[in-house]
Amino acid sequence: MFNLILFGPPGSGKGTQSEKLIVKYHLKHLSTGDLLRYEIHNQTPLGLEAKNFMDKGQLVPDEVVIGMISSALEAHPEVKGFLFDGFPRTSAQAEALDKLLELKKTSIAVMLALEVSEEELVKRLLKRGETSGRSDDNNDTVIRARIVEYHKKTAPVADHYKKSDKVIMVKGEGSVDEIFASLCKEIDQRLS
Ligand code: AP5
Repeated sequence: MFNLILFGPPGSGKGTQSEKLIVKYHLKHLSTGDLLRYEIHNQTPLGLEAKNFMDKGQLVPDEVVIGMISSALEAHPEVKGFLFDGFPRTSAQAEALDKLLELKKTSIAVMLALEVSEEELVKRLLKRGETSGRSDDNNDTVIRARIVEYHKKTAPVADHYKKSDKVIMVKGEGSVDEIFASLCKEIDQRLS
């Protein structure tokens, strides 16, 4: 199995690049943001709980997202590998993921971390907020809260994977195709 984490702050292009990477490398895309929005859309108890946090730009509690990822891993035993997008987002989530993958006798091959300036992140998210209907995109205060939450709780997750030399920084500004080419170069080196 080849498992990778696409890492980066809100608006860095994780979702955009994931869509292209899963097609090229035949990976299963696991986005906790998408899974949570699916729960909200279906008005499940989990979705209603998560919405309170997401609308404020805060992280949803670890046990909720770890449970979701655990079920998703079990649901796809035959895949070539997983692309994790927006997960893990805390050190506790990273530790839980390592254990879940160990049970499947696999591990994370690489974490590709997209680097984008804060000014560009806010610009991208406000622009998307004009049409996306995402409640966490349509105001500057919530977008900035998401970025603060990223620096406080999520950025340290990279340190967890740096210990095993698995983190590669990739420039996340430029055209979507240029960034895709940079990501593919890193993946191809590790697959060959
Ligand atoms: P989530 O859905 O994961 O959102 P996010 O990380 O905040 O990031 P986005 O999806 O907004 O951005 P992205 O990096 O995927 O960029 P995208 O490609 O979309 O999380 C939402 C919330 O759910 C969290 O705040 C939290 O509450 C909760 N949550 C999720 N996972 C959790 C977890 N593990 N633990 C706890 N809570 C969790 O691009 C953004 C925009 O930029 C798009 O409009 C795109 O078209 C545009 N764009 C992309 N690339 C470029 C480019 N190169 N140039 C110009 N524009 C570009």
